[in-house]
Amino acid sequence: MRPFVFINIASSVDGKISDERRRQLRISCDEDLRRVDRLRAESDAIMVGIGTVLADDPKLTVKSRELRMWRVKRGMPENPVRVVVDSRCRVPLYAKVLNDEAETIIAVSKLADSKKVDALRRRGIEIVVAGDSRVNLKALMEYLHDRGIRKVMVEGGGTLNYGLLREGLVDEIYVYYGNMIIGGSKSPTLVDGDSFDPPIRLELISVERLGGGVLTKWRVKTGFCHRASSRISSSKPALR
Ligand SMILES: NC(=O)c1ccc[n+]([C@@H]2O[C@H](COP(=O)([O-])OP(=O)(O)OC[C@H]3O[C@@H](n4cnc5c(N)ncnc54)[C@H](OP(=O)(O)O)[C@@H]3O)[C@@H](O)[C@H]2O)c1
Repeated sequence: MRPFVFINIASSVDGKISDERRRQLRISCDEDLRRVDRLRAESDAIMVGIGTVLADDPKLTVKSRELRMWRVKRGMPENPVRVVVDSRCRVPLYAKVLNDEAETIIAVSKLADSKKVDALRRRGIEIVVAGDSRVNLKALMEYLHDRGIRKVMVEGGGTLNYGLLREGLVDEIYVYYGNMIIGGSKSPTLVDGDSFDPPIRLELISVERLGGGVLTKWRVKTGFCHRASSRISSSKPALR
């Protein structure tokens, strides 16, 4: 079994999520940032790839005090668990995602530097070893489900989005198109990596004008049903 997984991302009209320098760009409007905060508050975990941590150094916490209190009233911690997909454990020790405002899980592969892993464990960071050279995303999702996590919000970047879609691990995708064109053939896009053959088909859930841009919600047609998705093969990596 795996959790319900959705990707939320802000894109320019030309499909870029950053520029060629991979800087964090303000693509969302204020209304969209409030929507993203609500989505975070409603999720059990927020997942990003290490590329996003290195580029943006996000905290991945719920910004609104009201929303944090809303969670607490329902018996949840103030913030969702943060999950970083980081095969070689490259996360900087000073990264904001390791602060004590929320629990953090670093998912690594067997290639990860054991000294760095130990240092993080000593700081109370949960380490999940899944995969030989790259994080096995299916095994990671199964681990998160076993840990009680039922709803995962993925906040990029394009490489992690690609890996999750390739493995059939995404149920829905929410794209906010900001009123801008970023350009750049090397700028990261919503989904990087190789092209899918055949393309992954989506079903439109809704379209909404929001601030100066447009919010679109899509259901992934070819993804696994999360209720029947336990497809860990005999090569299932050790999780600890
Ligand atoms: N506009 C937005 O909403 C938004 C949101 C987030 C990010 N961004 C932008 O996106 C850019 C970062 O994107 P990115 O593509 O470079 O990084 P990313 O998707 O955040 O992280 C990718 C990294 O995850 C690791 N990984 C481990 N196992 C993986 C697997 N099975 N499949 C896929 N990845 C795996 C890989 O590094 P290892 O092999 O070392 O593990 C990989 O390079 C930044 O410019 C950031 O500003 C924009």
